[in-house]
Amino acid sequence: MSAVVEPYLRIAGHRRLTGEIRVNGAKNAALPCLAAALLSDEPSRITRVPDIEDVHRLIEIVKTLGVEAEFQENEVAVRPLGVCGGSPPDDLAASLRASFLVMGPMLARTGEASCGAPGGDVIGARPLDVHLAGFRAFGAQVDSVGGRTIAHAPEGLRGATIVLDYPSVLGTENLLLAAVLANGRTRIVNAAMEPEIGCLADMLNAMGARISGAGHHTITVDGVERLSGVVHELIPDRIETGTLMIAAAATRGDVRLTGVSPSHLEALLSKFAEIGVEVRRGDDELELTVNAGATLTATNVQALPYPGFATDLQAPITALLTGAAGTSMVHERVFENRMQHLNELRKLGANIVAGGSVSAINGPAALSGAVVRGTDIRATAALIVAAFAAEGESRVYGMRHLARGYADLPAQLAALGADIERV
Ligand code: EPU
Repeated sequence: MSAVVEPYLRIAGHRRLTGEIRVNGAKNAALPCLAAALLSDEPSRITRVPDIEDVHRLIEIVKTLGVEAEFQENEVAVRPLGVCGGSPPDDLAASLRASFLVMGPMLARTGEASCGAPGGDVIGARPLDVHLAGFRAFGAQVDSVGGRTIAHAPEGLRGATIVLDYPSVLGTENLLLAAVLANGRTRIVNAAMEPEIGCLADMLNAMGARISGAGHHTITVDGVERLSGVVHELIPDRIETGTLMIAAAATRGDVRLTGVSPSHLEALLSKFAEIGVEVRRGDDELELTVNAGATLTATNVQALPYPGFATDLQAPITALLTGAAGTSMVHERVFENRMQHLNELRKLGANIVAGGSVSAINGPAALSGAVVRGTDIRATAALIVAAFAAEGESRVYGMRHLARGYADLPAQLAALGADIERV
């Protein structure tokens, strides 16, 4: 019997990244927009869709609910087959968090919805109370049975004022997906303000929904009877953009990123200014140059809901700060267990003292190659950044996590001159 060999990335450090890359469409916009296609009985097409595992899994899921969906060359064509209904297979539901986004559309369209426990990165407890309280406020009866959520609203959903206990991203999206077909006006108060919410609202409005205030704390939705099909382009992936910028800075690189939205990255750009990374910004491009040998300065980072510093960039910037002079404090305030990269960074030579969700990074540390393992999407990206900053060769495991969220990060980095190879 042959043992299963786990793939890894072999990375030789200290190669300066230079050149130009166009970023992909946003993972976390692709998922709610795919769920939105369930709301219409007309075909839709979503463009600039990243070729990532989570997208393919959600396509599999929507195909079990009465639509045909096909991914081809970064576009997903969705064609409803007439009858919409059912529940995602439990194993698929458990393979990503965004599987739970089918609840809002299915409940709004058919008056019933159910979904097994959603999966995703293990970075905290990740409860669903915000989603469930919202469905109840619409008048649905919601039960949780052994991890499975079952919701009924035989009379349809009624618009309501819903104050979220926390501005959950998927929670806001799920309630928006339900509110567009609810009877009357809904106000979602303390809504998440992430740009991906705006992308979803733009798609829904183009389908005929009446949403205002997306991107602000309060979103107002006037329910409509039906929605039409649409062609919708996703926004650029701000986390992929940020990851590439952080990798470029870690190698003292000279990199131009095109097709991006600089305004979605203000928190990262302001941290770059503090640590001494100069970035030139155009309307839809960012160019970053760091002189070889330049010393970066330590700073403090708090990961918060948008427009605060993105939790999805907390691990990557921690990797960068290991090379900054002084002590940087990094506080993760969104997820309670998103510091699993710290031990791996220490294996590369980082000097980090941590307790709970706070870490003190003492730099600059001279990193050297090691064998490390990423335990979630962004932790794996962070270890790639650290391996670039390290002297010698590293092995980074965790490819299955990386593939869930980055379309082609190793290939993009190789195109910028990194010595990186999938083995
Ligand atoms: N929370 C609750 N109750 C809820 C929902 C969330 O208490 O009902 C808590 C969570 O436990 C967490 C905080 O609220 O402490 C934030 O969770 P949120 O619901 O906002 O996160 P999410 O919607 O599950 C999305 C992204 C994540 C990203 C977070 C925060 C998608 C598919 N996922 O998750 O992306 O980190 O928002 O910005 O959009 C990633 O891409 O690597 C990733 C994990």
